[in-house]
Amino acid sequence: MQLSPEQAIGIFDSGVGGLTVAAAIRNLLPAERMIYFGDTAHLPYGDKSADAIRYYSVKITEFLLEMGCKLILVACNTASASAFDALKEKFEDRVLLLNVIDPVINYLAEMKDPGIVGVIGTKGTINSGTYEKKLRERKPEIRTVSMPTPLLVPMIEEGFIYDDISNAIIRAYLSDERIKDIHTLVLGCTHYPIIKNQISKYYNFGVEIIDSSRIMAAELGEKLESHGLLARKREKDHEFYVSDYTEYFRKISGMFFEENIGLKLKDLWR
Ligand code: DGL
Repeated sequence: MQLSPEQAIGIFDSGVGGLTVAAAIRNLLPAERMIYFGDTAHLPYGDKSADAIRYYSVKITEFLLEMGCKLILVACNTASASAFDALKEKFEDRVLLLNVIDPVINYLAEMKDPGIVGVIGTKGTINSGTYEKKLRERKPEIRTVSMPTPLLVPMIEEGFIYDDISNAIIRAYLSDERIKDIHTLVLGCTHYPIIKNQISKYYNFGVEIIDSSRIMAAELGEKLESHGLLARKREKDHEFYVSDYTEYFRKISGMFFEENIGLKLKDLWR
């Protein structure tokens, strides 16, 4: 595998929500150049079959490889749960690969006393049982409970944040018996960092909230460094592609990346 520091990091997600991860990378590793792909034509992944998600993920990874990326990061939790093993099998000898779930598992395993760990995410992520399985393998003494919270993605995309509607939805979900008595909560979805403080407030700041986008960025830095691939200076602009372009995606991308980006259409399926 012949890789060099000046190559870009490829990031992909089902849509523009993965820009929360891209934003965390920009903040922590400003010298890195990113090529982002949001599969807006197939959004949401949260309700799709694992087979469909694997098929999309392979195609997107091939595109990011053609773009010359040194590392490909699966920013989507649902794709990390369903497609990462297939990507590893197919591409591991050509490029470095990372997903958003493993760094969180490492973080939890190293926490002093996480208590009961709750995980929230899409139906795809939660029904796959990936977080529980990986945590059980790594640290069997940690008790994990999880629950799908599918309304949170459209709620955030429609701009219902820090208001009565979102407070009511968050309360309805987080007071559920299944995850009522937790001490640590993993935000297992690209969109949830947007409402992190609102969730903290629901718990009166008494539950530790794990924001995977920041943990991910830190692990990415370590991985690049250990391979001698940390960029020194960013020479070119980031690039942002979507498989279906609408004004709506352009507008909400600003909410996730906190700056205006020039989204470009790249339909890999036509
Ligand atoms: N990106 C997805 C995730 O992190 C959320 C949106 C979707 O369902 O596609 O699981």
